[in-house]
Amino acid sequence: MTVDKERKEPTSSYPAEWEQHRIVQSNLFRQQVETFLRPIPKDVQQRMERIAEALLLQPQDTLIDVGCGTGAMVPFIHKYIPLSHIWLCDCSEAMLEQAKKRFPECHSIHCDFLKLQQAPEKTTELDKVDVVLCNAVFGNFIDQQAALQVASHLLKKGGRLVVSHPMGRGFVQRLHESNPAMVPHLLPDRQAWQCLSWRSWRMTLEYYCDESELYIARLLKE
Ligand SMILES: C[S@@+](CC[C@H](N)C(=O)[O-])C[C@H]1O[C@@H](n2cnc3c(N)ncnc32)[C@H](O)[C@@H]1O
Repeated sequence: MTVDKERKEPTSSYPAEWEQHRIVQSNLFRQQVETFLRPIPKDVQQRMERIAEALLLQPQDTLIDVGCGTGAMVPFIHKYIPLSHIWLCDCSEAMLEQAKKRFPECHSIHCDFLKLQQAPEKTTELDKVDVVLCNAVFGNFIDQQAALQVASHLLKKGGRLVVSHPMGRGFVQRLHESNPAMVPHLLPDRQAWQCLSWRSWRMTLEYYCDESELYIARLLKE
């Protein structure tokens, strides 16, 4: 369990350690652009379909795809909402550039999600959203509580945070063990979410799926 049990107060500061981690992430993922552009195996695509279903999207909804990478989830999300309702967010310019090239109709924000409140697009264009999706990125955040805080502030009342991984929690654990600089944390188990989510950021766990190769946690913003 890697999410702290202590509640932290909202902070607008951006510690030097986070900036260092952002640089590490950007550098690591710049080298992985080609890998993420490869065709996705059929079985993984089926699990991505299930993640998209779990978002419970209605046609008018808006969504931010946090750590969107090259936009792998976008075609699955687009089955439910127009591209113009999707915000792409990534701290790696190289990954985000590919996503923008593939889906120019989407909005985009190049920033660390933990620093989203300070991004120029946030203050001028991006309002509250219905869904915050963190697919294959939650273990990468240097501070998972801070990510929950940002997500909670961004969500409308009744909105959903979906934390997911199409390869499962065990896969993230193996990544964490082999490359803790890239994946400093694990994905929270059900018990961790139940302890944390309501007390922390007014979000309650309403759906949890923990199969050997699929992880989905959906939290409802009160
Ligand atoms: C493993 S990839 C997943 C990409 C995409 N979500 C997918 O499903 O293919 C993780 C992505 O998250 C981005 N990322 C990592 N930490 C981030 C952060 N704090 N804010 C925004 N993006 C981040 C990385 O640059 C990378 O593109």
